[in-house]
Amino acid sequence: MVGRDGGADVDDVNRLDSLLDDALRETAAAGDTGAVEAVRLAALGRKGWLTGALRDLAGLPATQRPVAGRRLHAVRERLEAALTEREAQLSALAMAARLLAERIDVTLPAEPVSAGRLHPLTRVRREIEDLFGRMGYSVASGPEIETQSLNFERLNIPADHPARDMQDSFFPALAPAYVLRTHTSPVQVRAMETAAGRLPLRVIAPGRTFRRETDDATHASVFHQVEGLCVDEGLSMADLKGTLALFARGLFGPDTEVRLRPSYFPFTEPSAELDITCVACGGDGCRLCKETGFIEILGAGMVHPRVLATGGYDPERVSGFAFGMGIERVALLRYGIADVRLLQAGDLSFLEAFPTVDREGVETA
Ligand code: DAH
Repeated sequence: MVGRDGGADVDDVNRLDSLLDDALRETAAAGDTGAVEAVRLAALGRKGWLTGALRDLAGLPATQRPVAGRRLHAVRERLEAALTEREAQLSALAMAARLLAERIDVTLPAEPVSAGRLHPLTRVRREIEDLFGRMGYSVASGPEIETQSLNFERLNIPADHPARDMQDSFFPALAPAYVLRTHTSPVQVRAMETAAGRLPLRVIAPGRTFRRETDDATHASVFHQVEGLCVDEGLSMADLKGTLALFARGLFGPDTEVRLRPSYFPFTEPSAELDITCVACGGDGCRLCKETGFIEILGAGMVHPRVLATGGYDPERVSGFAFGMGIERVALLRYGIADVRLLQAGDLSFLEAFPTVDREGVETA
C-alpha cells in the first residue's frame, strides 16, 4: 500500500483496491451483524489494514500526501457506507423474520366461543315471565326456607292438613318454625304485604320448591313452581280464565283450548284446575291424556278471603285470583320430554337439543 519509503506505488494502489474489494464482498456476504463487525475490525480496528495505511500517511512526502490521503479517505468512506448499509439490511431482515414468526393476523375470525345453552327450565321460566310480564305482572320472590306460618297457616292450611305430614315436607331439624317451602304460594302473602294495600297487585313468583317424594319419571323432590297472584276490585273467575287462556295460548300455541275443572285448595275458594288441549294428540285422545283430549297444567282459584285478609286486603272490597304451576311439568309438556330426571341429570348431550346463546345470553337459533 503506502510504501515505507514514503512513496505510493502502483502495487500499493492495486493492493488497496483488492483489499477494499475483498472487504466489500465480505460485507455483502455477511450473514449477521457479527460478521459485519469482523470486516470493520479487520479494516478499521487498531491493527486494521486501513488504519495502518492511514497512519502511514504521516510519513509521506508533503507532495504525495494529499492525493494518497484523498484516496484513503475515499476508501474508508466507501467501506463504512457499505458496512452501515449491510447492517441496516441485516437488521431489517431480522425484523422481517421476527414479524413473520410472531405474526398475528387480526383479520382472522376469532376462535369460536362455546357460549352454552339455556336449560329448558330456564327457557320455560323466562317464557312464562315474558307472557305474564306483557299482562302487567312483575316478578316477585321469596325464600326457599320459609316459615311454617307463611307456607301453611296464613295460606289457610290448618295444622291437620295432609300437606303438613312428615311425608310431604322437609323440616329443618334445628329450625322448628321453618320448612323447605312446599310451594311458591307463600310468596302470595309476602307480595301482598309488600304491596301494602295498593291496587291492582299483579305478581308472579318463580322459584324452587321441595317435597318428600321418591324421584321417578314424573316426581322430583326438588322442583320449581311459578305462582301467580292478581288482586283488584271486581275480579272474577272470568278474569282468571281469560288470563290463563292468554297464557296457555302464548305458551302452547293459539289453538290451545282451556277448561277449568272444579278442585280444592285451602287458599282459594272456589278452586279449580286448568286443563289444556293435549299437547301430544291435539285433543283427539291418546295415552298421555288418557283419551280425554285434555291435560292438567296448573291449580288456580279465587283467593280465599282469609288469605286476602292476612295479606292486608279487605275481602269485602277487593277480590283476587291465584294460580300455581310446576315448571318441570310445563317443560316436559312443552318440549315432549318423557322423564323429569332428564331435566336434573346435568347431562350436556341432553342440552344439545336446545339452541345456543350468544355472549349476552340471547338465543342464537
Ligand atoms: N300451591 C299449589 C300446589 O303446590 C298450587 C296452587 C293451586 C297455587 C291453586 C295457587 C292456587 O296459587 O290458586 O299444588
